[in-house]
Amino acid sequence: MTDSRLIECKVLKEEPTKDLLEELYAIEISAHKSPWTFDGIAKSFNGNIVIGCFLDKKLVGFAVMQTVLDESELLTIGIMPEFQGRGLGKSLLSAALSEVKKRGAKKCFLEVRVSNLPALSLYEKTGFKKTGIRKNYYVKTAVLPAEDAYTMVSEL
Ligand SMILES: CC(C)(COP(=O)(O)OP(=O)(O)OC[C@H]1O[C@@H](n2cnc3c(N)ncnc32)[C@H](O)[C@@H]1OP(=O)(O)O)[C@@H](O)C(=O)NCCC(=O)NCCS
Repeated sequence: MTDSRLIECKVLKEEPTKDLLEELYAIEISAHKSPWTFDGIAKSFNGNIVIGCFLDKKLVGFAVMQTVLDESELLTIGIMPEFQGRGLGKSLLSAALSEVKKRGAKKCFLEVRVSNLPALSLYEKTGFKKTGIRKNYYVKTAVLPAEDAYTMVSEL
C-alpha cells in the first residue's frame, strides 16, 4: 500500500531543539528493538546529515547519513511502526541517497542484521547489493542475540 497523503522527506536543521530531539527519540524507541540513546541521537547531528520523514507534516521517521569525501554510510533508518508498509521508508531512503549524492557521494555503504527482512528488502529495492557478511557484527543485548551483518553497497 502506498500512502496518498503528503509525504515530505527533508534535511533537519543542524541545531535541533530539545522538542525535536524528543520526537526523534520517541520514533527511535518505537521503531528499533535496540535503539540509540537520546544523547546518541543528539550527537548524530554533529557532522552527519539527519533526514526527517513527514506524513501530513507529522514527523514519523528519520535516517542518519555520514559522508566522508565521496563515500557515504547509512547509519540508521526507522519509521514509526504504525506508519510502516506505506512507502515511507522507500521515500526516506531515496531522499537520503539523493542528498548525499548532491553533496558528492559516489557510493553508499550499510550494514544490516541478516534477520531484518523488511530492511533487507527495502535496501535491495533501492539498489543496494550485498558485498559480504560480518560474523557476530551485532553484539548480544538484553533483547537481541548476537548476529551477523550483511554489508551492502549502492553506487549512486
Ligand atoms: C525498514 C523500514 C525503515 C522500512 O520502512 P517502511 O516504511 O515500512 O518501508 P516501505 O513501506 O517504504 O517499503 C519499502 C520496501 O521495504 C520492504 N518491506 C517493508 N516492510 C516489509 C515487511 N514487513 N516485510 C518484508 N518486506 C518489507 C518491501 O520490499 C517494500 O517494498 P514494496 O512496498 O514494493 O513491497 C521499517 O520497517 C523500520 O523502521 N523498521 C525498524 C527499524 C529498522 O529495522 N531499520 C533498519 C536498520 S537501522
